[in-house]
Amino acid sequence: MKKHNPNGISRRTLLTGAAAAGGIAAVSSFIPTRFAIGGQHKVKIGILLPYSGTYAMLGNSITNALKLRIEENGGMLGGREVEYVAIDSEMSVPKTPTNTNKLVGKEKVDFLIGPVHSGIAQAMAKIVGGDQGPIMIVPNAGSNLVTGPLCAPNIFRASFSNWQPAWPCGEVMANDGHKKIVTITWGYAAGKQMMAAGRDNFAEHGGSSIKDILVPFPDVEFQAHLSEIANLDPDAVFAFFSGGGAVKFVKDYAAAGLKDNIPLYGPGFLTEGVSKAQGAAAEGIKTTLHYAANLDNAANKRFRAAYKEAFDADANVFSVQGYDTGSLLISAMDAVEGDTGATGDLIQTLEAAQLTDSPRGAWTMSKAHNPIQDIYLRQVENGVNLVKGVAAAALEDPAAGCKMA
Ligand code: BEZ
Repeated sequence: MKKHNPNGISRRTLLTGAAAAGGIAAVSSFIPTRFAIGGQHKVKIGILLPYSGTYAMLGNSITNALKLRIEENGGMLGGREVEYVAIDSEMSVPKTPTNTNKLVGKEKVDFLIGPVHSGIAQAMAKIVGGDQGPIMIVPNAGSNLVTGPLCAPNIFRASFSNWQPAWPCGEVMANDGHKKIVTITWGYAAGKQMMAAGRDNFAEHGGSSIKDILVPFPDVEFQAHLSEIANLDPDAVFAFFSGGGAVKFVKDYAAAGLKDNIPLYGPGFLTEGVSKAQGAAAEGIKTTLHYAANLDNAANKRFRAAYKEAFDADANVFSVQGYDTGSLLISAMDAVEGDTGATGDLIQTLEAAQLTDSPRGAWTMSKAHNPIQDIYLRQVENGVNLVKGVAAAALEDPAAGCKMA
């Protein structure tokens, strides 16, 4: 991380200001009676995120902003110093049990942060969900199952369910007058769940999908699929790709001559954090997501400036999710005065969290432990995902199968 200077304000002011900057209001009834903090070991945060491959940008954005947020809090959680143990998930579902057990069993982390990939999230939830596991906060992976049938008291999400950013896009395509679409995505949990959500809502608004194309994850050989799309000649295409794969898909789509004839839509991951790399190929693409670069709120302006200053890079939705993960940890650890053993109270605080000052706009935690949040309609203009309106206000995932909801 480049320098991040808390501007020389006093420690007390910094803590108060940082709490305000995080905008967390926790509605909690318990009265903590806590131990003396002196001499306690550092709070250990275990991180399982991708630092290589097509999702490396996502993992790095989340990690940067998580650390930035905690640094804004003086580098402390509940008055204790913080230590990070990070593992590259390599986006490997088979390696997930080993990686998770390394963090939980060997490193004995106090909190588990991860992952990006829905399949890995499902595998992690099966291992740590329940009384014996640490509190896990998911800073990206949208698997509907994690806050559905696999929901657990100790698992929270600071990002989205796959259903949330995809569902409103179905209505957007219908409102633009389209009747028949082709969907294309990587054929794993995230892609399949987003495809189903967007397609279902499109059908509710009178449209239909004439072909659903699944590309093995993380392949980026799109030529044959683009030829098929050209032959099918739909009104529009609905696509989920992210990171490096999204750059390649959007560029290939334009190079195949499809961009001007068959408009491309999707959950905002298609252009998020990569629109500059996609260049002219991304211009005009409409997507739906819980964030946009130019959201006009003070928290977003402050966050984007701090992120740029610290990392010499533009913030994106993944960094917002990492930042909000940090805010959740700060509020929970403040509430228990640094007592990581107070699991029940930590959970109670996270359940009551209201992020009134998040860069994405205010959000609250659902009963299934997933954000209830606005989903924005965005469009790429001059390389930036600009907000065009609210596609769905305070959207809550249906949380089908979650016994807590
Ligand atoms: C997922 O696997 O859940 C996912 C990955 C990248 C972007 C969005 C979702």
